[in-house]
Order: sequence, then C-alpha cells, then structure tokens
Amino acid sequence: MAARLLVPGGDGIGPEVAACGEALLAAVAADTGLRLRLEHDLLHGAAHDAWGTFCRDETLALARDCDAVPVGAVGGPRWDGIVLPGGPEMQDGLMRLRAGLDTFVGLRPARTWGPLAPRTPFRPGHAEGADILVLREMCGGVYFAPERGIGPGPDGILAGHDMTRYSLPEIERIARTGFILARRRRGRLCSVDKANVMQSGVLWRRTVTEIGRDFPDVALRHLHADNAAFQIVRDPLQFDVILADNLFGDILSDLAGILAGGLGMLPSASLNGLPEGPQQGPGIYEAVHGSAPDIAGRGIANPMGTLLSVAMLLDHALGRPDLAARIEAAVEAVLAAGIRTPDLGGRATSTEVTRAVIQACLGRRP
Ligand code: IPM
Ligand code: MG
Repeated sequence: MAARLLVPGGDGIGPEVAACGEALLAAVAADTGLRLRLEHDLLHGAAHDAWGTFCRDETLALARDCDAVPVGAVGGPRWDGIVLPGGPEMQDGLMRLRAGLDTFVGLRPARTWGPLAPRTPFRPGHAEGADILVLREMCGGVYFAPERGIGPGPDGILAGHDMTRYSLPEIERIARTGFILARRRRGRLCSVDKANVMQSGVLWRRTVTEIGRDFPDVALRHLHADNAAFQIVRDPLQFDVILADNLFGDILSDLAGILAGGLGMLPSASLNGLPEGPQQGPGIYEAVHGSAPDIAGRGIANPMGTLLSVAMLLDHALGRPDLAARIEAAVEAVLAAGIRTPDLGGRATSTEVTRAVIQACLGRRP
C-alpha cells in the first residue's frame, strides 16, 4: 500500500521549501519503488485567508489518516495579532496539528557540517564533531497555557499573562523518552529548566531525577536554561541529548543552529512516541526555521532543513534509515561542492540546491 502524506505548505517560504521536499520524495520514490500518495492543504495564514481558521477540522482529520505530515513553514506578521475563538491551539495552525496529533516528542538534531565550519562564529575545531539532539516537549507548557490574556488586572493596569503549567504525566512521558534516546546515543542526558525561579521547573527537575533512577546507565545532568544556552556555545561537545520543555526547547533548538552553520540547516520531527516505538498517529516533519516573509517568492530559501526533515520522515515514518543516511550524505556532498543558497554565502536557488541533492542521492555528481 502507498504511504499517505499530507503536505501543508503554509506561509511565506513554506510552500517553496515544501515543494523542494516533495521533489526529493518523488525522486527517492522513483528510485526505490517506494509508493507515496501526497495530499495538500492550507495551514495557518493561508488557511486563515481562505477559511478564517488557522487549521480546519478537515485538515486535522486528514492528517490523522496519513502516515506523516511534512509541513513547509507557518506564520507571518499579517496574522500575528489575530485572536480566534477557542484555546491556544486555535491561534496557530501548527500548534493545532501538534495538539491534535499529540506529537509531544520534538526531535531537533543539530550537528556540525565540515564544509560549513568556516560559516560558524567558532575558532577552527571548537565545535567540530558536535552532535546534539534537542528533545523538545511539544504539547504543553506556556505554549498551551489555558490561562492567558490581555486585560486590566485587579489594579486596573493593563497586563498580558500566559500561565505555564506542566502536569506530572506530561513531564514523565517526555523524560522517559529522553532517557531512552540518550541510551541509544552516547548515554548523556542534560535536562534544562528554571527550577531556581519556577514551580513548574521544580516539578520538572524532581520528575526527571526520579525517572532517571530507572536509567542508571545514562549520565543525567541538570542545567538552568540560561546556563544551558551559555554552555552550548562555550563547549558544544559536552552535550548529547538536551531535554527541554516547549519554550526552552524552542529557544535552544534555534541556538543550536549556530553549530550547523545556519538556521536553514535544521530539520525536526515531532512524534507521538519514541522513534522506532509504537506511534499512535503520524509525525509532523518541518524545518526549524520560520516562514521568512522577507524572502518569500524569490526562490532563494535554503531547502536543506526541509530536505533533512524528509530524511527524518523516511527514517521514522517509513522505516527507511538507509534512505535517510543517503540524503544526509548527499547534503554533505552538495555543501562541499559549494552549491548553497545566499544564507550560506552561496548563489544557488532553492531549486538548484534541491536538484543537486537529488543527483547526489541517486549516486550522481552534484
Ligand atoms: C518552531 C516555530 C514554532 C514554535 C512557531 C512557528 C509556532 O518557531 O517550530 O520552532 O514556536 O514552536
Ligand atoms: Mg522555533
């Protein structure tokens, strides 16, 4: 049976990079006999313009019926101030998909790429070989705060508030995932919180410590989020898996992009459980970068984050780690050949980079 994928392009450069991902999927499918059926839909701003909602019920229902949901990118200043009826998940198309599919496991890998080392702000060798997995909790915390709003407080002074909340089971399930992933990698888990100032952080730290008793073979360390940011830049090689809540994981995964040579290089997968574990429903695969409205429509967006997200999709949704490895090697070869978009100092278009990655994937010179 053909695997079914829902591809919401989204906003800004989203549809452009999504098309690059589709081209790679089509080429890999033609080369390997993999059967794919692609569906399309609008998400976030594009959906709001068409239907007045950021993610239709139909879109979520269709996503649930699919094997994977590769998303372009969403958002833009045009839609930022809009408040729709309903909870936090109704205010953002991607967040509705995350909540509706319960994709609480955010895998955000960041590694160095030899050919891009000169584009990092580090002295030679400082970050060489860095390979970090930011494991971000995707379905809780301040992002989904039910208590939120802007209005006058009891003192009559205008205030905005978003109340962070993490329940014990929410922390337990992501912590357990973190230990299992660390065990499969280099056995080191660094949990990030602000237990020094936040009660949700106190519960986070206590719970991670308790779950850690089941994983004596994993070296657990706790860092306050501010110090974690400093340490990632100071000595990236000390990290293996970084476990973080929704907000800190969002921030630290962008920060880790500095290792990869640019934000455009980062892929992500948001899953309902462990990769290679039982999943209830499809994962969401998207580049970590945003919708970059300033360069939308110019054909120069870096497609690498999306192409590497396609690799994660092949690995986690379709059980083809071999194809994922081929794409990663192809990306490295194309970077080495100097075929790069302007954000990486090159002059190639998104399509040219994609074509080169496809060629390299098929065993031809990029
Ligand atoms: C990300 C993005 C999203 C987030 C936005 C687009 C809602 O920054 O996937 O990291 O903040 O989670
Ligand atoms: Mg982000």
